[in-house]
Amino acid sequence: MANNMKYFIGNWKMFGVPKSINILDKINKFIKSDKKFSKKYKVVITPPNTLIQSYSKFFLNKKISIGAQNCYHEDNFGANTGAISSLMIKSVGAQYVIVGHSDNRSEGDTDAMLKSKLENSLNNKLKVVFCIGENKEHKLKNKTFEVLESQIKNVLEEKFNFKDIIVAYEPIWSIGTGQIPETNDLLKTTIFIKKILKNIFKKSSPAVLYGGSVDGKNISQFKKLNDIDGFLIGGASKSDKNFIDIIKNYYK
Ligand code: PGA
Repeated sequence: MANNMKYFIGNWKMFGVPKSINILDKINKFIKSDKKFSKKYKVVITPPNTLIQSYSKFFLNKKISIGAQNCYHEDNFGANTGAISSLMIKSVGAQYVIVGHSDNRSEGDTDAMLKSKLENSLNNKLKVVFCIGENKEHKLKNKTFEVLESQIKNVLEEKFNFKDIIVAYEPIWSIGTGQIPETNDLLKTTIFIKKILKNIFKKSSPAVLYGGSVDGKNISQFKKLNDIDGFLIGGASKSDKNFIDIIKNYYK
């Protein structure tokens, strides 16, 4: 990913109908009119699959990019009821895809499946937001680094283009709970993740985001953490006001 870029990626999860595009329209207007919003910031929204085509058309060549929240681990058309492949997502205009969100890992995504999702998505010219994160038990047993290292090493390979991959560190205990990591812990973890990534990709590390209960108030606590290249935002991305507050309060 481009150096110094800061990402604000909204994950709508199971939220949104066609008229919810109003939320994005307001965010887009804010981006266009706010003088402090620079080329160094990138906004991506991942609505449910039902909205990707219409939203992508609407935001074509605008400041907001549209992505998908997941994809199936195989790309060939097949007898997989309810499944949608990276090829299909790309064909309706998505530019990004989230892979490995803890919601999907808990539904049975294995490392091998995630590797295949990632590989297919990159082949289809999608940028991948690859999620990793420890659960509460790992944290209490001091296993965070061990878990993160294996999640990364079991999926990412040197042959993948690091510029098309964004890693999102999302501690599971912080998703939707209002709890965020201690600043110092988060700094250490981010540096650790970047070290592992650099070992794999040699030249450079993909961008590393933080995700988990980010909102317009606590965003100020992340400001001093320069190593964090942006945020994956769930709950607060469903409201234009909350999402705009996060961006504004980040650079104010
Ligand atoms: P949250 O979700 O911001 O609501 O905690 C983050 C995520 O699941 O990506």
